Amino acid sequence: MSFDLIVKGGTLPDGTIADIGIRGETIAAIEPTLAAEAGRVIDATGDLVSPPFVDPHFHMDATLSYGIPRINASGTLLEGIALWGELKQVMTLEEVRDRALAYCDWAVSMGLLAIRTHVDTCDDRLLGVEALLEVRKQVAPCIDLQLVAFPQDGLYRDPTARENTIRALDMGVEIVGGIPHFERTMADGTRSVTELCELAAERGLMVDLHCDETDDPHSRHIEQLAYETQRLGLQGRAAGSHCTSMHSMDNYYVSKLLPLIAEADVSIIPNPLINIMLQGRHDTFPKRRGLTRVKEMQALGIRVGWGQDCVLDPWYSLGTADMLDVAFMGLHVAQMSSPADMAKCFDMVTNVNARIMGLDHLGLAVGKRASLVVLDAGNPIEAVRLRPDRLCVVSRGKVVSERPKRDAALSIAGRPATINRRHRVAD
Ligand code: FE2
Repeated sequence: MSFDLIVKGGTLPDGTIADIGIRGETIAAIEPTLAAEAGRVIDATGDLVSPPFVDPHFHMDATLSYGIPRINASGTLLEGIALWGELKQVMTLEEVRDRALAYCDWAVSMGLLAIRTHVDTCDDRLLGVEALLEVRKQVAPCIDLQLVAFPQDGLYRDPTARENTIRALDMGVEIVGGIPHFERTMADGTRSVTELCELAAERGLMVDLHCDETDDPHSRHIEQLAYETQRLGLQGRAAGSHCTSMHSMDNYYVSKLLPLIAEADVSIIPNPLINIMLQGRHDTFPKRRGLTRVKEMQALGIRVGWGQDCVLDPWYSLGTADMLDVAFMGLHVAQMSSPADMAKCFDMVTNVNARIMGLDHLGLAVGKRASLVVLDAGNPIEAVRLRPDRLCVVSRGKVVSERPKRDAALSIAGRPATINRRHRVAD
């Protein structure tokens, strides 16, 4: 028996030490030891071998545009939307495509091999849609790119958004998006959730709505999304992104809301970097942190993943395409500090996000697609703590990014510092 590639001796996220044998684009064997020929052997001894990172919430049409044509002075969501409106007037298809491709290069180097990006459909030219459809095709060998038709300025608030969203779906965008809290009234927001869910049901598509990205405790569109998901049979195919208003909601109301979300099997995608940056901007003190109720939802079995949302764009001035940054921030803001919760944060940016996106072919198991990441860390918790180098990234059986392990830094006394800051907690 022979393999095209063997990843040898790595530690899997569950602590198992194993060799992974790859044939073609598929994981063909996972055994304690594989004594077989291979086209190439990657020594992962002592390193973490993980499924690829997955980002279920991003805006690739805006990424890497920070400072064009100006920066967001107030730091609010609303100024970000206004600034994006200014940028849309001047950007070209080539610029959007090239920025998105540059981001995809970053993503691959970070082991981020699946991304769900929203793409603005409030532009009669549908320039972003056209650009990202091209990007999706170009990056397909490395990245599963899902596109969400996103009427950024409101399905009803923007005069041609409805028509353009449908055009985008006809062009090949595969998920229905929306922004109910940005419609003119709460009633319009509710109506938009219904119409968008109906559109998804009619076409057999998934739906992923920006839901209640606000500090307003009365913004309750997630309730309507749960209701429509159940009414239209969209269970397992619907997601509510952000859901920041839940941070501020009345506790009694939430005690009724969460079981409804669980019953409807709606996934929730908080975006901790951007949520903590944008929310609470109208508060003095105490200042709300604007993150949805992650642990409380997980306790009820609701699928919650961490999303990145933005990197260097009108809403967020930082970011590196590293989903471990996202997990690190999420862990802090949601106070997920127990060992089990810290490990869960790693699982959220890999396996849980893949499930939210319906990517059943990802995962470390025989028969799954041979896409994986070797990290300079001993286990998932250490990976979140260190956000370490991705030593090797394999996509569809091919090595697509590689870097040598760094030498230990020198301490002030000229002796090697603790190697790569790794630390083993006593069993
Ligand atoms: Fe978003």
